Amino acid sequence: MSIAGFDKVGVIGSGQMGSGIAQVCAMKGLQVTLIDIKDSQLEGAKKGISASLGKLESKGLLGSESASSVLARLQFSTQMRDLSQADLVIEAVSENEALKMKIFRELDEITQSACVLASNTSSIPITRLAAATRRPDQVIGMHFMNPVPLMKLVEIIPSMTSSPETIDRVVKLAEGLDKEVTRSQDYPGFVINRILMPMINEAFTVLMEGVASAEDIDKGMKLGTNQPMGPLTLADFIGLDTCLAIIKVLHEGLGDPRYRPSPLLVKYVEAGYLGRKTGRGVYNYSQK
Ligand code: CAA
Repeated sequence: MSIAGFDKVGVIGSGQMGSGIAQVCAMKGLQVTLIDIKDSQLEGAKKGISASLGKLESKGLLGSESASSVLARLQFSTQMRDLSQADLVIEAVSENEALKMKIFRELDEITQSACVLASNTSSIPITRLAAATRRPDQVIGMHFMNPVPLMKLVEIIPSMTSSPETIDRVVKLAEGLDKEVTRSQDYPGFVINRILMPMINEAFTVLMEGVASAEDIDKGMKLGTNQPMGPLTLADFIGLDTCLAIIKVLHEGLGDPRYRPSPLLVKYVEAGYLGRKTGRGVYNYSQK
């Protein structure tokens, strides 16, 4: 099975985004290798993917396939060299530019020359990642939304150097994964996070100033503007460290004080209250 000429796909980073991307690719018949540095992380990812596939199967959303047949198309590995035959690699590690640059340099060495390299970064410049490789025409941004199996959108971000062929193939791939596509120029935060993160950041400032309780901020935005989750609940869901990293990219990249990180958001991250993944963010999940 191939979509737009992509058959073997590598995904780097087995957190919630990487796992979700690997899962949706396998659900559409692609052969996927999910890479992370620790076996224990990969085991956790496998459990999460199995649970999600089980849920979709029980709702009849896997068509004629079973969760186990989809899972059989997924390999889990701690070795980047297992990507040597990949047609496409999607990088989905945390929002750390130095780490992403290192991975792109390594991918450029390891993968075959025709392989397309995509980043799921939510804010780091794609043109900068492309320039770290000898194939800048084959590097592109593919920004999925969390939870990937449920969310319809993929934001496509061509770099200044992406070739029309790379853009066309990656758009076709996203559509083949049953996603809707929007395109964004390669400016800080692209479109989704340029608009979403200032709202989340402002919610922290409103909370810090004591304008309202966390519950009322979320209830107000949820019921008052028909969002599925209030901004503080959503921040806990995304991860407060990720939110802070993105707002910092907006602040530094656009140089405008209106993107200054809320001191309360900074304080939560310093305390290690990173949201659902640590059991504590704005809300406490340990008793839930
Ligand atoms: N796989 C399979 N099923 C899943 C799932 C997954 N990964 N995640 C949730 N579900 C299922 C739930 O189990 C539940 O099933 P049942 O109805 O059978 O119990 C169903 O989906 C609905 O979930 P919930 O009952 O938990 O709650 P919900 O109705 O609020 O839906 C949600 C959950 C889809 C996450 C919804 O709350 C939502 O859309 N929230 C906003 C998400 C959002 O904005 N995402 C974008 C974040 S920004 C981003 O990702 C980009 C970035 O760079 C930071």
